[in-house]
Amino acid sequence: MAKLIKIRTYTTKRTGEAADVARGYLSILENNKDIPFEVKRVFYIYGSNHVERGGHRHIKTRQALICTSGSYSIYTNNGVKKETYVLSSPDDCLLLEPADWHTMVGLDETSVLLVLSSELYNLQDYIDDEYPDFIEYENLYKVNKEFMNDYKAKFDEVLNSGYFVLGNNVKNFEQEFQNYLQSGKCLGVANGLDALTLSLLALKNLDMPADSEVIVPSNTYIATILAILNAGLKPVLVEPDITTYNIDPTKIAEKITKKTKAIMPVHLYGKSCDMTPILKIANDNGLVVIEDCAQSHGAMYKGVKTGTFGDFGAFSFYPTKNLGALGDAGAVICKNYMYYDKVMALRNYGSFKKYYNDYVGINSRLDEVQAGFLSVKLKSLDKINAHKRKLADIYNKNLSDKFIKPIVDDDYFDVYHIYAIRHERRDELKKYLLDNGIKTDIHYPLPPHKQKAMQGILTGDYPIAEKIHETILSLPISYSNTEAEIYKVVEVMNKFEALA
Ligand SMILES: Cc1ncc(COP(=O)(O)O)c(C=O)c1O
Repeated sequence: MAKLIKIRTYTTKRTGEAADVARGYLSILENNKDIPFEVKRVFYIYGSNHVERGGHRHIKTRQALICTSGSYSIYTNNGVKKETYVLSSPDDCLLLEPADWHTMVGLDETSVLLVLSSELYNLQDYIDDEYPDFIEYENLYKVNKEFMNDYKAKFDEVLNSGYFVLGNNVKNFEQEFQNYLQSGKCLGVANGLDALTLSLLALKNLDMPADSEVIVPSNTYIATILAILNAGLKPVLVEPDITTYNIDPTKIAEKITKKTKAIMPVHLYGKSCDMTPILKIANDNGLVVIEDCAQSHGAMYKGVKTGTFGDFGAFSFYPTKNLGALGDAGAVICKNYMYYDKVMALRNYGSFKKYYNDYVGINSRLDEVQAGFLSVKLKSLDKINAHKRKLADIYNKNLSDKFIKPIVDDDYFDVYHIYAIRHERRDELKKYLLDNGIKTDIHYPLPPHKQKAMQGILTGDYPIAEKIHETILSLPISYSNTEAEIYKVVEVMNKFEALA
């Protein structure tokens, strides 16, 4: 895979006197040290004003590309990943492996591209065909492309403000997100795991005994379990419903003990849990409800948005999420001011007033720049969800019924963070799709109780979770995927069934 490296560069100071700096810079690349091969041939490309160059890959040749003047855009495709690199500084060096099919574009009369090659020229070493096109599972560059100008303006604004943590951008985003959810009080935090942990820590600070138990689905992502452990509490696993992949409300009651204090429903894959019975069980047993909304931004149950049913709603804005930042970010939605005040202090060292600490808190503050980016993207969250729902509809209507598809129900407004199907020959299907240029993912290959880290912590048998993990496959459903791509996935998938 192509890799961009920095060249070691020194000012040519010998005496340390300022005048020496004017003599310029000295950049060094040594064989097998800075570049991972021995250079056998050096050439440079220039004067090819606006002409596209390259358009090949190699069998053996490795190359190091340096733009010594002007700039060059280099598009690479290694059959698995497509990328575009811009070389505009003599300090940057792009290392190309033989498998990296590449073209150079965007050059002008000032552009000079220096190429260091591991082999002597050999016509037999060239392959001109680009890889057959593939359908990506996710492409965050494409997802974020339409927001780039607004992100850049936001970044400039934050940079010029000189204020970088918990400032006006965070306050604005908190207000906008709670407006979007139409209920609750929002607090920006560093990530989704912290959003869950802080909710539990707030409860602990409100007098929850240390050996308290928290009910959580057995097929969740590990973060939900880690939050319970990080807060010093005990996770109690409840099996999911095999048709919705969400916690089975009929199996919760049997796991409630005197120590049970909370239920953490996880709205997995972008579908809300069946909240009516869950809230009733919580109410009947005096339990707190903390919703894990890391995958359910904008998802609804009976017309109400997830994150607003429970005492707490914990969101992740990890870049791949339906509302994703450009780094880590998260938020807690609190139902009442008592919880809100606790989380507000706990995310900032347990402090309400600078240098005065009321609780044993943590540092989990949201950056101004991420909050600003989130405000930009939040305006398009409904559009992003609508696109994903459109793609899901294509799958739902056209995929062969031999694949177990997500269920659709009028009470649920699903936002398809993940489009998961199940098939007994999942691994074979995944390979078949890849051979046909379609990338997929698995959420998740191993359930929490089977993870090495959880041995001795999570005990018991969870056959439904295991069955899901063995058969589940996530199909492309990114904001960056087109409808035509999804029809193509359907066509290829349905042929797998014909082969079966
Ligand atoms: C269900 C669930 N909960 C919690 C998290 C944790 O979020 P973060 O990665 O922002 O810490 C994730 C992240 O993928 C998740 O999928």
